[in-house]
Amino acid sequence: MANTNTANATSAARRIVSPSMLSADFGHLERDTRMIDASRAEWVHIDVMDGVFVPNISFGFPVLRAIRRATSKLLDVHLMIVEPERYIARFAEAGAGLITVHHEAVGDLSGCLASMRATGVRTGVSIKPATPVSVLEPWLSQLNLVLVMSVEPGFGGQSFIDGSLDKVRELRRMISERGLGTLIEVDGGISAANARELFDAGADVLVAGNAIFAAPDPAAEIEKILNA
Ligand code: DX5
Ligand code: ZN
Repeated sequence: MANTNTANATSAARRIVSPSMLSADFGHLERDTRMIDASRAEWVHIDVMDGVFVPNISFGFPVLRAIRRATSKLLDVHLMIVEPERYIARFAEAGAGLITVHHEAVGDLSGCLASMRATGVRTGVSIKPATPVSVLEPWLSQLNLVLVMSVEPGFGGQSFIDGSLDKVRELRRMISERGLGTLIEVDGGISAANARELFDAGADVLVAGNAIFAAPDPAAEIEKILNA
């Protein structure tokens, strides 16, 4: 099956940038998506918020479908919603290539991962800043990706929480010890200024919203993060 862990090579960290559409200009969604499509960013990060799991509401299926039409890149969908298991099939249908649910928000994680596999999307689980990486340990072999939140989920433009670096190092050690190919993604407060440290700590995928979309030349900013 294409979405099992064997799909990932067991190797040193990769460098992938996943620009967060939360910071895009929604009046020019197609333009901003095409900018990413033409850039060296490999993925497109989609933040879905329900106003319950986090104190903010972002967007849902119609916006995801509009983004899907404007790029062929992998849509990296980060669900900050309660009971995410209810919506996996619909996000897959709307164009998600990878879906990340929050460990704190899901009741039946095993069932949730099974429905991701059944719909053919890659599997991800995220932890908030206060959640220890140890909760991910039993699930690592079933995951294509783990997402370390380096800010409190809910808003773009916040400052990076330094303790997140140790969580990345600990996860890198756990994944390497088990010989797994699970990718480590980090999200929140990331820019070219701290990207190097994160890649060195073992991160494979960096999400950046404000740093990219507030830059005078967003595509150049993506390059700077990749080459940090
Ligand atoms: C926050 C979201 C992030 C956010 C990152 O809850 O999950 O993806 O867009 O934004 P920046 O890079 O601005 O911190
Ligand atoms: Zn996110």
